[in-house]
Amino acid sequence: MTRDTLSITDNRTGQNYELPVTDGTIRAIDLRQIKVSEEDFGLMAYDPAYLNTASCRSTITYIDGDRSILRYRGYPIEQLAEHATFLEVAYLLAEGELPTREQLSRWEEDVRYHTYVHTNVIKFLTGFRYDAHPMGMLLGTVGALSTFYPDAKNISDAENRYTQRVRLMAKLPTIAAFAFRHSRGLPYEFPRNDLDYIANFVNMTFSIGGKHEPNKVLQRALEILLILHADHEQNCSTSAVRSVGSSHVDPFSAVSAGIAALYGPLHGGANEAVLKMLDQIQSKADVPKFVEQVKQGKGRLMGFGHRVYKSYDPRAKLIKRTADEVFEQTGLNPKLEIALELERIALEDDYFISRRLYPNVDFYSGLIYQAMGYPSDYFTVLFAIGRLPGWLAQWAEMLGDKEQKIARPRQVYVGEDERQFVPIDQR
Ligand code: ACO
Repeated sequence: MTRDTLSITDNRTGQNYELPVTDGTIRAIDLRQIKVSEEDFGLMAYDPAYLNTASCRSTITYIDGDRSILRYRGYPIEQLAEHATFLEVAYLLAEGELPTREQLSRWEEDVRYHTYVHTNVIKFLTGFRYDAHPMGMLLGTVGALSTFYPDAKNISDAENRYTQRVRLMAKLPTIAAFAFRHSRGLPYEFPRNDLDYIANFVNMTFSIGGKHEPNKVLQRALEILLILHADHEQNCSTSAVRSVGSSHVDPFSAVSAGIAALYGPLHGGANEAVLKMLDQIQSKADVPKFVEQVKQGKGRLMGFGHRVYKSYDPRAKLIKRTADEVFEQTGLNPKLEIALELERIALEDDYFISRRLYPNVDFYSGLIYQAMGYPSDYFTVLFAIGRLPGWLAQWAEMLGDKEQKIARPRQVYVGEDERQFVPIDQR
């Protein structure tokens, strides 16, 4: 007879234990009863970087890395990228259901109404150096927003949480666009509430003298990229938002922690690294030589491989299609030829096949952003705008989860045993 339990024999003591198995997991706290003596603290699981630890139960995003599946609230990413708007996806992630027409127009209206930032935020932004990295500006300014909205501390009130969600969704593109203008020494372009979410953001970044000729194909391509980045379950930045948010700090502070995590080159910075790699390769003819070097362990093929996806990253497939549409408008990015050749050679090579290395979401996104006119140090800012709905949904889910407490991992102490203080002149 089979049972949903795990039998453990502790060979240190000869004791047997039976732990329940639920949803393919045991509870780490159930290991605590396994002790060698009464004084023993109890067994712990050691899991640096949480490679095999589920930190929460979630209903938001489902990923099956072997079968290339990504779903938000059950809806396949392919369908959302084809049919939904970014604000519709943000609503879905937060509320769990697609909005009705009325719900969507209220949500859009609320976000539209809050796009302006307090003028003191502008003074604050102008204080950054001319060469400040836009991600540093973004994370500092979003953190500072918490001082403008002290009411955001009231995280236990659902209506209040909604207000802060609206504020963050509405103001992040404004701050991001101001950071873009700051880097160029251009005057800040204020939000235009007659435009939709994407068109307003594009206008705030590219408008000169109040004029910008909108390109609907490029705007929809940007919207698709944001949808593809909107959530990816318990990645580094989302875990940061949940962990910091578990202290019950306000959402502006928690989200700025997420932006900080995304800033790191191992997380949000990979698409920038892809462009640097393509620059380094220079021409299509040099691709085989470069691939050989990678195989010899001299560097990695950036934009390839993923911790979770061990077959094609479903987002990469969609991005490739979007790239074709964008390049039809902007003309071919000369680096695309090199990227396509890299992909072709790598996908036929046993080194990459045997390690299950396929293009990930970052392989083509940088090329698209560049064709749209965004510089490489701005790519991660665009990622942050896309990921915000995911951070907010995960933050709210964490707060509503009765099992969650302040995040506080354990450690295995391997340092010195107790020793006596040595006065400085005797050291
Ligand atoms: N190029 C060449 N070889 C690679 C690559 C790559 N991009 N990625 C992994 N490998 C090789 C490793 O050298 C290793 O080979 P070995 O078994 O002979 O030692 C094997 O494949 C397994 O690699 P790991 O590092 O164990 O795989 P892991 O799952 O830890 O890493 C990661 C995943 C970090 C994404 C990795 O594939 C990588 O560095 N890719 C390039 C950077 C990148 O594109 N990052 C973006 C990820 S998507 C995102 O964050 C939005």
